[in-house]
Amino acid sequence: MIGHREFILKNKSLVSIDQLDRASLEVILSLAKSFKQQPNHRVLNNKIIATAFFEPSTRTRLSFETAVLRLSGQIIGFTDSRSTSSAKGESLEDTIRMLAGYADCIVVRHPEENSALRASKVSKVPIINAGDGSGEHPTQTLLDLFSILETQGRIDHLVIALTGDLKHGRTVHSLAKALRHYKIKLILMAHPGLEMPESIIQTCRSAGLDIEIRSQWDLSGGIDILYMTRYQKERWSGSLLDIAPFILTRTDFEKFNTKKTLKVMHPLPRVGEIDLSVDDAPQAYYFQQAENGLFVRQALLSLMLSDFKI
Ligand code: CP
Repeated sequence: MIGHREFILKNKSLVSIDQLDRASLEVILSLAKSFKQQPNHRVLNNKIIATAFFEPSTRTRLSFETAVLRLSGQIIGFTDSRSTSSAKGESLEDTIRMLAGYADCIVVRHPEENSALRASKVSKVPIINAGDGSGEHPTQTLLDLFSILETQGRIDHLVIALTGDLKHGRTVHSLAKALRHYKIKLILMAHPGLEMPESIIQTCRSAGLDIEIRSQWDLSGGIDILYMTRYQKERWSGSLLDIAPFILTRTDFEKFNTKKTLKVMHPLPRVGEIDLSVDDAPQAYYFQQAENGLFVRQALLSLMLSDFKI
């Protein structure tokens, strides 16, 4: 059983992490753990999932598609909108209306903020937001929470630092808002000009989250999770030279006397903000983190589209 109530997003769209309360997040994380132990289940028989990717992706699209195949569903979709009638000027809304006639659920990535919400308003089948511009990336947050829990055994009472491009990074927007459901200390560390939007800080503080803002690279303070993000050349005109002090190197762990159990996470792709020397450090967890995307997406699809029970 998944609990005493129906899953909050059964046959509904997921456009923002705000739709998931702590109890719903925990149901997804718990089911994802079962899928990590045994990924093959016939829960999406006769279901067709469309992946509509108007922006590039490696992890999100391929883990969604693997999730569908592991669940015995089928996939249609595109990875390059130039091969669709978008290239002739067809709107996002009309493209979604068409896909909704063919598929039982549509996973959408699009460069414009609020595009998933727009898609959900015209779709007769559930939409899953796989990243809408600088807006949100709620399913990334599911795998981030799963990975935090996996590495630390809990989420409450941790010190979690988010760093990198906090202004344009949709993963950290969704993650910060999800973390407001937990009793943690959140450190936001960004180069001036790349700070977390004030509206998200206010949302988190209003929910009681303890937030410390840092404008310099500083890994002190008992950090448990260091969550790095990419500098987004498609949304920011600066260069890595501008943010050189914010590049993680292997010597930082000793320099800041970080906790032995610290884990470094990153949604990937990375573009220079993590020095390659970190990769074989015990703190590095970003590749295992990305693998977890498969299991949380299996859990989400099962709960949204089937009567699957744990
Ligand atoms: N983390 C993430 O969204 O990666 P992709 O852009 O490769 O999907």
